[in-house]
Amino acid sequence: MNQTNSQPVEYNYKVVRQFTIMTIVWGIVGMSVGVLIAAQLVWPALNFDTPWLTYGRLRPLHTNAVVFAFGTSALFATAYYVVQRTCHTRLFSDRLAAFTFWGWQLVIVAAIITLPMGYTTTKEYAELEWPIGILIAIVWIAVMIVFFGTVATRRTSHIYVANWFYGSFMITVAMLHIGNNLALPVSFMKSYSIYPGAIDAMMQWWYGHNAVGFLLTAGFLGMMYYFVPKQAERPVYSYRLSIVHFWALICIYIWAGPHHLHYTALPDWAQSVGMVMSVILFVPSWGGMINGIMTLSGAWHKLRTDPILRFLIVSLSFYGMSTFEGPMMAIKSVNALSHYTDWTVGHVHSGALGWVAMITIGSIYHLIPVLFNRERMYSIKMITTHFWLHTIGVVLYIVALWISGVTQGLMWGAVNSDGTLTYSFVESLQASYPFYFVRFVGGLFIVTGMLLMAYNVFKTVRSNAVRKSEPLVAQTA
Ligand code: HEM
Ligand code: HEM
Repeated sequence: MNQTNSQPVEYNYKVVRQFTIMTIVWGIVGMSVGVLIAAQLVWPALNFDTPWLTYGRLRPLHTNAVVFAFGTSALFATAYYVVQRTCHTRLFSDRLAAFTFWGWQLVIVAAIITLPMGYTTTKEYAELEWPIGILIAIVWIAVMIVFFGTVATRRTSHIYVANWFYGSFMITVAMLHIGNNLALPVSFMKSYSIYPGAIDAMMQWWYGHNAVGFLLTAGFLGMMYYFVPKQAERPVYSYRLSIVHFWALICIYIWAGPHHLHYTALPDWAQSVGMVMSVILFVPSWGGMINGIMTLSGAWHKLRTDPILRFLIVSLSFYGMSTFEGPMMAIKSVNALSHYTDWTVGHVHSGALGWVAMITIGSIYHLIPVLFNRERMYSIKMITTHFWLHTIGVVLYIVALWISGVTQGLMWGAVNSDGTLTYSFVESLQASYPFYFVRFVGGLFIVTGMLLMAYNVFKTVRSNAVRKSEPLVAQTA
């Protein structure tokens, strides 16, 4: 992070503050809907016979709220912060940055209204109908202009690696979103995909998997490469490894999508390419995890006293766990057991709640005092409590669903000596019930932690303990 120009810079923190606060708000909303649908799987009567409260409509509301409202707001907040701090320059355009904030909130509100009403393209993670799809593309391109415009006007000689990850996430998701959403509108809120049958499925999972790879992974790795060294007060373990990590990850991820379509009409060779690329993907993923965790070399003792660092480092452990599990599930014979079962949902949440949510929460606790010019967070004890509530909640969630998933896979595959099925589907559902209850309890822990975070942030913002060490106008990264 060499500085080449010593003029003071006033960073644009307003838009960062806005996105950061909305990350917390949407996190609470999205995760609460998650708890509600988890409860509906235990007590189906909780849909109150109301169409817009049914599971089929609330489930996409949950996924859109957590991935695009919570996760993406966190990525925009931190990308705008990190790019300014590491490029030593103010955001490229304040007005365009403000447009991206309000535009993105409009997208989210449109999703919250239309999904419960039943409007959907039926493509997972791309459910929003064409007018909203177009708005997403416009806002996204505006974000890219702000981000890359800032990089282009930087006052440093090189581009810090976190920006490479953020940049790749923005470019790739724009390409995926536009490619997968090409559709023929037949009315104001109904369209049909331009792709036929198996090609549509291939496009959908090229999009779906790379949304995981570039939004839920590359973007958050950008966050990791800035906030872990900052919080640990140590340089990145190996800068060279971070560059190898970047290129290996983006070159391999893009080919792994077919692992979502094993044993389908997709040509066999494409399924095999997806499987092999997924297995290879283990290597750069663990390279990145090791680089993050080893950044703590010589500062391990800080984990004992710093709950923010604990959030960041434990998130990396979950990242390692889900990127070990994913390649394994991509092997066709393992997928024959795991596909369609709760094992997949458990894997999703070890990535989403363990990795994505924890790295976000840790980064936000680091950010809030800086953004609001406060000495530190109002209560460190509350952060510690949040850490344990979240960790226990995630462990309850994923362990319950591993057991449920493997049980389902084994029960569905069991056959008697005469070739008939040993268990009916309803019997496998009954076996899952206790685990659905445990998942619901895990979810309650997690949402309680998020509410505690909101209170802690509120008290920090309202406190008078103005920061002395780091003024809003700064010269260094
Ligand atoms: C309190 C926390 C949460 C709870 C209780 C929860 C609960 C649920 C439930 C019940 C489902 C439906 C599973 C099914 O249909 O069998 C689901 C799906 C999903 N959730 Fe969550 N969730 C939470 C947090 C999150 C977060 C933070 C993210 C992402 C950042 C996330 C991403 C997803 C995704 C991607 C799916 C779809 C999974 C699939 O299709 O396999 N969830 N969640
Ligand atoms: C090396 C990295 C990874 C590989 C190879 C991988 C592989 C897989 C596989 C094989 C499936 C099951 C497909 C199926 O049977 O339908 C899956 C599902 C999924 N994974 Fe991963 N995974 C990886 C990392 C992650 C991470 C870090 C996250 C989250 C942050 C994640 C999120 C998801 C989601 C959301 C799905 C469910 C998609 C759906 O069916 O709706 N994965 N992954």
